[in-house]
Amino acid sequence: MDEFQKHISQLRDDFTFSTLSEKDVEANPFFQFEKWLLEAVAYKVPEVQAMQLCTVSERNSPSSRIVYLREFKNHQFTFYGNYLSKKGIHLEHNPNAALSFFWPQLERQIRIEGVVKKISAELSDQYFNSRPRESQIGAWASNQSETILTRNELEEKNIHFEKQFKNIPVTRPPHWGGWSLEANYYEFWQGRKSRLHDRISYSLTENSWQLNRLAP
Ligand SMILES: Cc1cc2nc3c(=O)[nH]c(=O)nc-3n(C[C@H](O)[C@H](O)[C@H](O)COP(=O)(O)O)c2cc1C
Repeated sequence: MDEFQKHISQLRDDFTFSTLSEKDVEANPFFQFEKWLLEAVAYKVPEVQAMQLCTVSERNSPSSRIVYLREFKNHQFTFYGNYLSKKGIHLEHNPNAALSFFWPQLERQIRIEGVVKKISAELSDQYFNSRPRESQIGAWASNQSETILTRNELEEKNIHFEKQFKNIPVTRPPHWGGWSLEANYYEFWQGRKSRLHDRISYSLTENSWQLNRLAP
């Protein structure tokens, strides 16, 4: 383990893939997000839609986890899960949240901050109905974030709901649905040589986006 600790402490790659300049970025950060996302897809970044979601509890304790970005339009970033989960409870008490993406193949990070709202039941239904049947059953079987005694308990609940919905469409559980984060801050980070990275941020002021370069 000592060798491994040493190995980890000495890992350092220089980033040389690209650069980011105020002159080249889009004036609208949502378009810059779309541009970078398209490039990440073109580079076949695995799990490109996986993003870190950070929420804060009623007692001001932060917590982060990965969720999938499922829809994005006009500064709105939509993800889905269980409304009674830890993140669901956090968001109920404090709608301020942060997202981040890391795409190592492009040496890029994107940070997005904003305010989260539940999406409409109709939109949650639409997405739920598009999911594979096993995922739909899973949404009923898993009381996400609750303690369970054994894996068996989860599998038995899954069997129970498979029987309950046998030969009929699986309806969306009322405690399962989507949230949408409306961005008021973006930051685009491009790794550069010798840790002199490029960072361009956009803050929403009144109705316009204020662009700044940040020290790395
Ligand atoms: C690649 C990946 C994608 C995930 N996507 C989702 C997702 O879209 N929605 C979700 O609720 N959990 C997703 N999870 C699981 C979450 O990271 C987390 O375990 C779960 O949401 C419970 O978090 P919470 O207890 O903080 O609410 C994903 C995990 C990984 C590793």
